Amino acid sequence: MLNIALVGFGYWGPNIAKQLYNNPDVKICYICDKKQDRLDKAKSIYAAQINYILNYSTILDDNNIDAVAIAVETSTHFHLAKQVLLAGKHIFIEKPLASAVSEAIDLKLLSDKTGKIIHIDHVMMYHPCVQKIKELYNAGEIGEIVHFDASRRNSGQVKEDVNVMWDLAIHDLSILDYLINPGLPDSLFAIGYKTINKRETLTSLMLKFGDLTANIKSHWLSSIKERKIIIVGTKKMVVYDDVSLADKLKIYDSRLTSKINDTNYSDYIVQAETENSFVPEIKISDALSNSISYFLSCVKFNMPSVSGPEQGIRLLKILEKADKWLAAGNN
Ligand SMILES: NC(=O)c1ccc[n+]([C@@H]2O[C@H](COP(=O)([O-])OP(=O)(O)OC[C@H]3O[C@@H](n4cnc5c(N)ncnc54)[C@H](O)[C@@H]3O)[C@@H](O)[C@H]2O)c1
Repeated sequence: MLNIALVGFGYWGPNIAKQLYNNPDVKICYICDKKQDRLDKAKSIYAAQINYILNYSTILDDNNIDAVAIAVETSTHFHLAKQVLLAGKHIFIEKPLASAVSEAIDLKLLSDKTGKIIHIDHVMMYHPCVQKIKELYNAGEIGEIVHFDASRRNSGQVKEDVNVMWDLAIHDLSILDYLINPGLPDSLFAIGYKTINKRETLTSLMLKFGDLTANIKSHWLSSIKERKIIIVGTKKMVVYDDVSLADKLKIYDSRLTSKINDTNYSDYIVQAETENSFVPEIKISDALSNSISYFLSCVKFNMPSVSGPEQGIRLLKILEKADKWLAAGNN
């Protein structure tokens, strides 16, 4: 049984609280938020079984607390995570790990020094559809991935402290990293558009890793909700539509074949074969619950998380580079 405290009960924190509360291997001891109305909200759900506090220093001082779940704004992650590690507690932290690569590196060094786990909730990696794609990829069924196309659009949850890439594109970057860990891109191109605040609310990120190209679109002010990933492999094409009510994941037999046509103009025809498709069987489970369970096993077996600080640093390096593109007005 792990004694956990949650800091941050805003938009996302309640989802973490619910999954922690329902997990038989966890005792949720504190919910902390600096806003009293958020604590009142938490209290109305969980009543007296949990301590509700405005200041997290009590958590740091409590030797019975093994781990802290952090669901505060991204700009507060580093300061809080550092104190939690120094207090000798493991960390479950929301994405993105920090606001800068330098901060993420500091947290990794501190995690190594204190021997405490950092698990970043790159929650999509723990989604059963993504787990299935990984399984198929590892079994060689998709072939080499040559293209990754992601669209993540919705209306709202516009953040003040980060642009939309740091909030939404990071999900897609984490999925790509999880599937094939392509490392850092050879080239990167980013365009963005600022609408209602000083940071981009709409971005398009293009990346090239060797022969693999990726196109990641993120949008906070979209009239439609979209969560779609298309992966083109040399053997199969994967279409993952998380908004679809039926068949979220479809696999197409999309062998790319080239034929020499000796009769006319270009002498070269590329044909995509998409006739045969199938819907893989997927055991339904909750991604956030899976992420929490995996974090618990990392702590139990003293095992680094796959979505730990190393991955966090890789993804932040891409986002920082993309931010430089945007800031330089290259669009
Ligand atoms: N995994 C996902 O799909 C997902 C979805 C949404 C948000 N998130 C992440 O969750 C985190 C929080 O996002 P959000 O949308 O819930 O933000 P939010 O602004 O709605 O909530 C943050 C809460 O933290 C509280 N807080 C801030 N500083 C504090 C402090 N020092 N002590 C105590 N409480 C403090 C605020 O009062 C607020 O209630 C972000 O890192 C975000 O990227 C993840």
